[in-house]
Amino acid sequence: MKIAVVGLGYVGLPLALQFARSCVSVVGIDVDARKVQLLNNGESYIKHIEPSAIGELVTSGKFSASTDFSRIEGVEAVIICVPTPLTRNREPDISFVIGTGKTIARHLAKGTLVVLESTTYPGTTDEELRVVLEEESQMKAGVDFHLAFSPEREDPANEQSKLKKIPKVIGGYTPTCLDRAMRLYSKAIDTLVPVSSCRVAEATKLLENIFRSVNIALVNELKLVYGAMGIDIWEVVEAAKTKPFGFMPFYPGPGLGGHCIPIDPFYLTWKAREYGKHTRFIELAGEINTAMPEYVVNRVIAALNSQRKALNGSRILILGLAYKPNVDDERESPSYALMELLIERGAKVDYYDPYVPVIRSTREHSQFAGKKCAAWDRTTIENFDVVLIATNHSSVPYHELAEWAQCIVDTRNAMAGVSVAHGKVWKA
Ligand SMILES: NC(=O)c1ccc[n+]([C@@H]2O[C@H](COP(=O)([O-])OP(=O)(O)OC[C@H]3O[C@@H](n4cnc5c(N)ncnc54)[C@H](O)[C@@H]3O)[C@@H](O)[C@H]2O)c1
Repeated sequence: MKIAVVGLGYVGLPLALQFARSCVSVVGIDVDARKVQLLNNGESYIKHIEPSAIGELVTSGKFSASTDFSRIEGVEAVIICVPTPLTRNREPDISFVIGTGKTIARHLAKGTLVVLESTTYPGTTDEELRVVLEEESQMKAGVDFHLAFSPEREDPANEQSKLKKIPKVIGGYTPTCLDRAMRLYSKAIDTLVPVSSCRVAEATKLLENIFRSVNIALVNELKLVYGAMGIDIWEVVEAAKTKPFGFMPFYPGPGLGGHCIPIDPFYLTWKAREYGKHTRFIELAGEINTAMPEYVVNRVIAALNSQRKALNGSRILILGLAYKPNVDDERESPSYALMELLIERGAKVDYYDPYVPVIRSTREHSQFAGKKCAAWDRTTIENFDVVLIATNHSSVPYHELAEWAQCIVDTRNAMAGVSVAHGKVWKA
């Protein structure tokens, strides 16, 4: 079997490799020529994907990468894993999906299966994507070609979370489309969960992400309430999670990050308006989570104040730029919001993240492009008035931080269990 995976990012690349490992011949297509070249040289641009895993599959001929969409001619299935961000006005931007659909359609052969994996609102696959595929190819979905939606459930850097073992939800445009998609994914994934339509599959992915966003907002709110009562939220969550049923732990933090949780819920909010419905839980959760960086900055101010220092002119080190521990992905990271708020108030801000040696150029935070990671040594760390832990990477030597830092503001409970002078750590 020969397939194409379009969009070789955090979702598309591991998926393409998983199919290639399962004896499917895979061509990975991306508009980024640099990524394509790296992959064909057996190199990786994602920290948790080993270059050797790519090199072996390239050498054996099971996987190759290309910028050439005509390679789609002759494949049995095309899987789309392109970005689905929000616009500046925080509305869904499905232009990558639509653009990809148009290009694919020009090379689509009869009988090909097209699967969308990008997270999106219900109706994208069987409305917008279907229409462009049909218009450009002059073929009918469900008749001349097959169409399905199957959401990705990638959990980067979680060793327990292997793509092959994660059950995969699949919805087809017609029963035959579903059947074709099930046959495709059964080659690479152990457990498949068929649902009755593309829309149900799209809605399932949104429920999963909204569930996280709402529960994180809940613990963030409780952090403030319990904090005012002198109760430590992390201790409370640890105790609550001993309940063997009906409870699942979520942890507070400096705000939401990553490409999914801060963005996807608003795909539903936007679509719901078309039906005259309001997504009050989603918006409230968004409000609470977005207010977290402001709260954290106030804790930094309080910590400095206790030492008779002002934030204006103070030197602050943000520890952790990635949005979650042990990954190199800093998209939508709350660390950027923290940096902006601190700088606005006159602080001098640097960052330390072993996985982000230099900040790349992005549309959202262009002012930080090219900024380099601070050094990790006693003299450098001692020089900061506050070290603000935004991400708890496990490779950071927290015992050295405890010894070297003047003051630590900890948003992740990273200093729990580390021996440190009384009063040096401020939880936030
Ligand atoms: N990252 C995650 O953990 C995760 C988890 C579940 C779902 N998702 C969803 O999966 C989708 C992809 O996310 P990602 O994290 O892999 O994004 P990403 O930015 O890491 O990767 C997207 C890739 O698509 C390429 N691309 C952009 N436009 C293209 C086009 N027109 N044709 C071909 N390639 C193109 C980019 O160069 C990039 O390599 C999104 O909808 C996201 O919401 C992401």
